[in-house]
Amino acid sequence: MENLEKIVSFCKRKGFVFQSSDIYGGFGGFYDYGPLGVELKNNIKKSWWNYTVYKRANVVGLDSSIIMNPKIWEASGHTKTFSDPLAECKECHKRFRTDHLIKEQNCDEANLKCPNCKGLFMPSRQFNLMLRTYIGPVEDDASVAYLRPETAQAIFVNYRNILDTQRVKPPFGIAQIGKGFRNEITPGNFIFRTREFEQMELEFFVKPGEDEKFFEYWVNERMRWYVEVLGIKKENLRIAYQSKEDLAHYAKACGDIEYKFPIGWSEIEGIANRGDFDLTQHEKYSGVDLKYFDAESGESYLPYVIEPSCGVDRVVLALLCEAYTEIEGGRTTTTESAKEIETVLRLNKNLSPVKIAILPLVKNKEIITEKAKEIYNLLSSHFYCEYDEAGTIGRRYRRQDEIGTPYCITIDFDTVEKDNSVTVRDRDTMAQERIEIDNLIMYFYKQFNNL
Ligand code: GAP
Repeated sequence: MENLEKIVSFCKRKGFVFQSSDIYGGFGGFYDYGPLGVELKNNIKKSWWNYTVYKRANVVGLDSSIIMNPKIWEASGHTKTFSDPLAECKECHKRFRTDHLIKEQNCDEANLKCPNCKGLFMPSRQFNLMLRTYIGPVEDDASVAYLRPETAQAIFVNYRNILDTQRVKPPFGIAQIGKGFRNEITPGNFIFRTREFEQMELEFFVKPGEDEKFFEYWVNERMRWYVEVLGIKKENLRIAYQSKEDLAHYAKACGDIEYKFPIGWSEIEGIANRGDFDLTQHEKYSGVDLKYFDAESGESYLPYVIEPSCGVDRVVLALLCEAYTEIEGGRTTTTESAKEIETVLRLNKNLSPVKIAILPLVKNKEIITEKAKEIYNLLSSHFYCEYDEAGTIGRRYRRQDEIGTPYCITIDFDTVEKDNSVTVRDRDTMAQERIEIDNLIMYFYKQFNNL
């Protein structure tokens, strides 16, 4: 496991993640995903959607608006209580999270010292994390709206629509992937804590009394996704159950899935038993009956909700930390690489941004480059491919290893003159296999799963 600075510089160097507004010196707490990062992120989201929605008959999807009626945030409690304790230094006026400082400095609030100038702090106060904007041409209190701090509330307020239009009944779920915004006091640790991020959330509605069973079910299901589908090592994951005192105001129980990041064990996902808190609140504030009527039993009830809520950006970071491997001296014995540190990104091949690299063995030989381009055209309508003819073959292999490309194909004279076959090289074993061009598509379909 490498340190975070290495991952940050790797991400920038290879085009996974850039700081936002880079040419203007960046913008605190915001990041942009480059060409490789966007592929990795999309593959993660696709995998989550397959696992959560497509593979289950009782889960449906949603894509809601980011800005919603501000009453929603009153009902959910966000306008009042969605805040973090803020400590402001009396001397340099830098601001920090009080709870983070207490943990780092291992002392009580009164004795905290500013990490910047060692000054003392003003009394801590609560700082609301919701990002505000104005809707319409007049900027006054009546036009204030918020960028959603989570996708969950949009699911609760669409619950009635979905119940009325889809053939669903508890236990059933509504899933959504989308952006969330929080005006974090101290964003940091790269894409771990940002002010704009993406969540993958499921709200799973169950009959009261079945909530504890389904809470346990979803904790296990979510762990299974990380280990069996994404391929994260079990020993790098753990579940931290929150004590009753630490629970959020809406939760009956909560288990955080934590990953062993270079910064220490930290949360990538929270799984909460929200009881009927949200539906009760929205029923009260909207005046709309949100109870489910079970025609079979004649019962009417507000379902309880189990919520697995996962941060896409934190999964990206966990996967990069998990996969990034440096091999001293390289894996080959050519003089070119003997003293170098070679990087291999051992990503689960189904998540790799580029799936196949097509490398003509010699350049400037039209007969070979033409064939290589033909193969690129053949494969690129099935898999994300890269064509590269620049540099020595060793260098091109290493470039692909570094960005996690699981397969490289080389095209040589034998391909065009003899056997109509290519050499396929495996990123991890470096084993090479000769495969007929006519069989290539099937060959690769067998190598990749639809996650
Ligand atoms: N609806 C429940 C909810 O939003 P949360 O624990 O505040 O719960 C869920 O957030 C997940 O969203 C976290 O586990 C984390 O992965 C991600 N997340 C939250 N705040 C984040 C931030 N500032 N930057 C990046 N990811 C964040």
